[in-house]
Amino acid sequence: RLGALEVHWELDSTSSELQRRGAHAPDFSMVMAETQTAGRGRRGRTWLSPPGLNLYVSCLKRFEAGFASLSGLSLATGVIVLRALHALGLSGAHLKWPNDVLAEGGKLAGILVELSGEYQGPCAAIVGIGLNLRLTPALREQAGQATCDLAALAHGTPPDRNRVAAALIASLVDGLDQFEREGFPAFADEYAEHDALRGVALHISGAAGEFDGVGAGIDARGALQIQTADGMRRIDSADVTVRRA
Ligand code: BTN
Repeated sequence: RLGALEVHWELDSTSSELQRRGAHAPDFSMVMAETQTAGRGRRGRTWLSPPGLNLYVSCLKRFEAGFASLSGLSLATGVIVLRALHALGLSGAHLKWPNDVLAEGGKLAGILVELSGEYQGPCAAIVGIGLNLRLTPALREQAGQATCDLAALAHGTPPDRNRVAAALIASLVDGLDQFEREGFPAFADEYAEHDALRGVALHISGAAGEFDGVGAGIDARGALQIQTADGMRRIDSADVTVRRA
C-alpha cells in the first residue's frame, strides 16, 4: 500500500497527526498543513507556523531493524532537504549538526525526527520538516533566533511553493528509501560537503560537560567530532548545545 498525501488547511501539528494514525498508516504517509496551531520544534520548543508563507510536512517511515539502525537518520534528513533545494537550483545552504539547515547565517529549515517502537525490532520514524519560504519581519522577531528564507537564498523571488513542496516530497521518499537500504554512509559525503561546523571554534555544553574545541566533521554513525586540547571527542545528538566559541 502506498502512503497517502494529505494536505490540510490547519492541524495542531503534522507530526502529531501522523502519530495519531499510529500502526495503521502505510510507509511514506505524508501530511502537510497550510498552518499549524501547535507546531513542535526540538527540545519542547514551539515552531511558529503561520499560513501562506512556509511549508510544514511530516512523513512516516517504518524500519524493521529498530532504533539501533537509525543513528544518523536526522542528519540524513538534513541532506534530504539540501537535495530538494539543489533540485530547485538553489545552492548555498549548510548543515549545522545535528540537523539544522542554515543559509546566510540563519535557520532556513528545522527537522524533527521522532521514533516509536523497539530498539532492535520493528519501529517507525516520523520525520517532520518546517521550511521557511518567506518570513515576515514580525515572524523573524518572534523566532528568537537568526532565520533565513528561500526568498533570500533565491536572491529575491522564491520558487513557487508547490514546486518546493514537490521537490521536498520527492526527496523525502527517495532519501528515506535510500536510508533504509544503505544507512547513513550513503549520506556522509554530502553531509561533509555542507558541514557548517567543520573547522569552526565551538563551545559544547550539556550532558557531556562543557568544553571548547574545533569542529572536525562527523563520524560514520553521525556523531560530531570535536578536536580539543586533550584529543578528539565525539558527541551524539543527545541534549547538547553547540555554539560558536
Ligand atoms: C526544530 O526545532 O528545528 C525542528 C522544527 C520542526 C518543525 C516541523 S514543521 C512540520 C512538523 N510538524 C511539527 O509540529 N514540527 C515539524
